[in-house]
Amino acid sequence: MVKVAVVGATGYAGEELLKILANHKKAEVTSVSAKIDQPQKISAIFPYLSGKIDLLCSEPDFDKIVCGCDLAFLALPHRVSMQIAPLFLKAEKKVIDLSADYRLKDKNTYEKWYGIQHSSPNYLDQSVYGLPEVYKDRIKEATLIANPGCFPTGVILGCLPLLVKHIADNQSIIADSKTGLSGAGREKEAVLIPKLKDNFMAYKINMHQHAPEIDQELTEISGKETVIIFVPHLIPIQRGILSTIYIRLNEQMGEQEIHKIYQQYYMDKPFVKILPLGESPQLKDVTQGNYCHIGLKLDQKKNMAIIVTAIDNLVKGASGQAVQNMNIMYGFEETEGLL
Ligand SMILES: NC(=O)c1ccc[n+]([C@@H]2O[C@H](COP(=O)([O-])OP(=O)(O)OC[C@H]3O[C@@H](n4cnc5c(N)ncnc54)[C@H](OP(=O)(O)O)[C@@H]3O)[C@@H](O)[C@H]2O)c1
Repeated sequence: MVKVAVVGATGYAGEELLKILANHKKAEVTSVSAKIDQPQKISAIFPYLSGKIDLLCSEPDFDKIVCGCDLAFLALPHRVSMQIAPLFLKAEKKVIDLSADYRLKDKNTYEKWYGIQHSSPNYLDQSVYGLPEVYKDRIKEATLIANPGCFPTGVILGCLPLLVKHIADNQSIIADSKTGLSGAGREKEAVLIPKLKDNFMAYKINMHQHAPEIDQELTEISGKETVIIFVPHLIPIQRGILSTIYIRLNEQMGEQEIHKIYQQYYMDKPFVKILPLGESPQLKDVTQGNYCHIGLKLDQKKNMAIIVTAIDNLVKGASGQAVQNMNIMYGFEETEGLL
């Protein structure tokens, strides 16, 4: 049994982690904490955990938490995680950080996009970007996982096979993503609900902080500088991200041929499903699960592949992927607790 601490347990991602861990056969939750005024049983906050996880949720007492766990999930806002992760790492405990604090390898890029100084940049080299469909071998050896962002997960998985095969024109990728409200975290939901009544909007057009993360990873994967145009949208639903990605191809190919490339690339990846040609992913098929569904279409005249991906931002885009990473780190079945 691996003993795990969940820090930030009352947030959206923390709650989703607890839901998954409550049914995980090889992990035991040993502490739950958050920025909370009155300590309360976590099963009083999330009653469906009753009888499964009944620990007291209180402000973190890190001396105690660190001693009692092998691994910590940090489901905390960025800038908070980078102060807390070192406490676990110095005690030789593993960390899976769901925030953005260790995803960008370049400290200056982080500071530019997040507008704050990085307080523990010495760990950036050591962190492994936790996208199992790319970095499974590195994840096995990792002590610090930078769990990918929700938008980057859907966009990168959509581009991956074409970039690995060097068929994509790296300078002309456009990703148009639509997300539900929970992507912004529990605190911001109340502000967003009235704005989204009968409404739908783009935001941070080509200025979203997940853009440099996507660029970094697509560049790493393809070995060639890749810069995408990324436009997120908010839609009036609770959870899920649907991304439509336009990729110009370097060579003429048929739709069947591209479809085969995707099928082959994801053949042994348990959480990515390539839909049959002619079918398009739908959020309702992926919400509450750790799957990414991918559909594709080729515009032969323009030599442009149009890829559509769907994920649940809180599961494959956050907590499900975090547990998938834990499973790989400890040599468990990759799907344990997630099917
Ligand atoms: N939401 C998503 O779809 C998603 C997807 C991928 C990654 N992420 C990332 O995952 C992290 C958590 O996101 P979220 O959506 O779950 O946010 P959230 O709903 O706002 O939850 C944040 C959690 O962190 C706790 N917290 C805040 N400051 C703290 C501190 N100083 N010490 C201890 N606990 C503290 C909060 O406690 P209180 O509630 O008691 O204040 C809450 O439990 C973020 O970095 C986010 O970017 C989120």
